[in-house]
Amino acid sequence: MNLDHARVLVVGAGLMGAGIAQVAAQAGHDVQLFDLRDGAADAAKAKLAQTFDGLVAKGRLSADAAVQTLARITPAAALAPADLVIEAVVEDGDVKRALFAELESLLPATAIIATNTSSISVTALARGMAHPERLVGMHFFNPVPLMKLVEVVSGLGTAPDVAQAVFDLAARWGKVPVHARSTPGFIVNRIARPYYAESLMLLQERAAEPELIDACLRAAGFRMGPCELMDLIGHDTNFAVTNSVFAASFFDRRYTPSLVQQELVDAGFLGRKSGRGFYRYPGGAPALPAVALPPPRAGRLVVHGRGLLAERFAANLPEARRELASDWVGLSADGAELRLTDGRRAREFGPGAAVFDLPLAPSGDIAFAGNADMAAWLVRLGLTPRRVADLPGLVVARTIAMLVNEAADAVQQGVCTEGGADAAMKLGVNYPAGPFEWLAFWGREPIAALLDRLDQHYRGERYRVSPYLQ
Ligand code: NAI
Repeated sequence: MNLDHARVLVVGAGLMGAGIAQVAAQAGHDVQLFDLRDGAADAAKAKLAQTFDGLVAKGRLSADAAVQTLARITPAAALAPADLVIEAVVEDGDVKRALFAELESLLPATAIIATNTSSISVTALARGMAHPERLVGMHFFNPVPLMKLVEVVSGLGTAPDVAQAVFDLAARWGKVPVHARSTPGFIVNRIARPYYAESLMLLQERAAEPELIDACLRAAGFRMGPCELMDLIGHDTNFAVTNSVFAASFFDRRYTPSLVQQELVDAGFLGRKSGRGFYRYPGGAPALPAVALPPPRAGRLVVHGRGLLAERFAANLPEARRELASDWVGLSADGAELRLTDGRRAREFGPGAAVFDLPLAPSGDIAFAGNADMAAWLVRLGLTPRRVADLPGLVVARTIAMLVNEAADAVQQGVCTEGGADAAMKLGVNYPAGPFEWLAFWGREPIAALLDRLDQHYRGERYRVSPYLQ
C-alpha cells in the first residue's frame, strides 16, 4: 500500500483539521477539506492564506510555494471520494462512527480512514464498520505544522499494512511516526500521567509549593514545570484526560485523579484561560526567593561512592577524602550524611542527615530534605538547594522514576517499543529525554529500589514496580 500520491480528504476544519490539511498540501497532496458547519472550510482556508502570508513575509516560505500549496486545498461542499480520509471532527464516538458509516458508503474498498482522536479507542471506533481493517489512528499534536510526532494507532481490527502505509506517509510528510496499540491514552497521554500526578500528590501532602515543584523540574530540563503546564493546558482539559484514562483502565488506582485538581476545576480556576489556576495571570509562577542557608557544616569531609555525581563532588571539594567502597553517593562531614535520594527519607539516616534530589542538570534549583547545613554543600556544586518535606524520592527523582515505570508498563504490554516511547515523549510533549534514556542513565536497580520505597511508604498499587523493570 502506498499513499504517496493519495487524494486526501480531511473531515473537520477546526484547529486540527486545518493544520492537517496544511501539512498534507505542503507535502504535495490534493486535499479536500470538509466541515459540517457552513463556511468553516472556507474560513479555515482563508486563515491558512493569512498564515502563509506571514511565513512569506518572514522569508520562511516562497511566494510561489504558498500559492501552490493553497491551490491544492479545496473546501468541499460534501464528503468526496478519496484514497485517504483523515477525520478530525469533535471528540465524540457516536459522531465519528456515524461519519465512518457514511464514508464507507462512498469510498472505494481500498481507501484508508484515519482518525485523529486523542482519547477514544480506535478498536471501539471501528465497531460496526464494514471494513474495520481500514481504520487506523493518526494522532497529530497541536500545533500540527510544528509538532513532529504522529502516533499511528492500531485497533484490534486494524490491518498491519494499513498502519504501515499511514506510518510511511507521515514520515514522508516530515513527521516522526510511532506505532502504538490502541490502549487508554495511547503513548504520550498515558506515559505523561505521572508528570502531573506526582506533583499533585506532593501538593496534596503539602510537601512543597507549586512554584518550587515547577522550578525543580524546570531545572531538570523540562520546558515547563507540571503546575504551570497544567495551568496552560487548562485544569478542565487535563482533569478530563486523567478521568478518561482512569475510567478506561477499569479504575486502576495508579491513575486515580487528584482532589487538588478537582478543587481547581470546581472553583473555576482553570488556569491561564480563566486568569487563575495554581498561579494568577498575567503573571504566572512567582520567582523563588533567594536561598538563605546556614554555612555548610564543617568537619572531616568524605565523598562517598562512585560515578559521575561522586566525581563531581570530588572535583568541587578537593579537601574531601574519597570513600569509593560506600554503597551510596554523597558527602559526609564528621559522619553527618548528605545522600542522593534512593527513596529513603532523611530521618532514616540520623538527625544530622540530609537527602537531595536527582540532579539531572549541572546547575539550578534542587530539592532537599533534612539538615540544611549538610544540604548547603550542594551550593559548592553550583546547585541551589530548596527545602521540601521529607518524603520518599523528593520531587524530580520520584517523577522520573514514575515516568520510567509507566513507560516500562507500556512496552511490556506491547503498546509501543522503547524507542517509540522515547520519541513520543520527546516530540509529543518536549521532554528533555525519553524514559528509556533516563533508565539507561540512572539504572534499573536504583529506579526499582526507589519505587519500592515509595510503595512501602504509601502502600497501594500506585508505586508498584513494573514487571518490565524487575
Ligand atoms: P475543533 O472543535 O476545533 O474542530 C472540530 C470541527 O469538526 C469543527 O469545525 C466542527 O464543525 C467539525 N465537525 C463536527 N462534526 C462534524 C461532522 N460530523 N462532519 C464534519 N465536520 C464536523 O476541534 P479540534 O481541536 O480540531 O479537534 C478535532 C479532533 O482532533 C478531536 O477528535 C480531538 O480530540 C482531536 N485532537 C485534538 C487536539 C487538540 O489539541 N485540540 C490534539 C490531538 C487530537
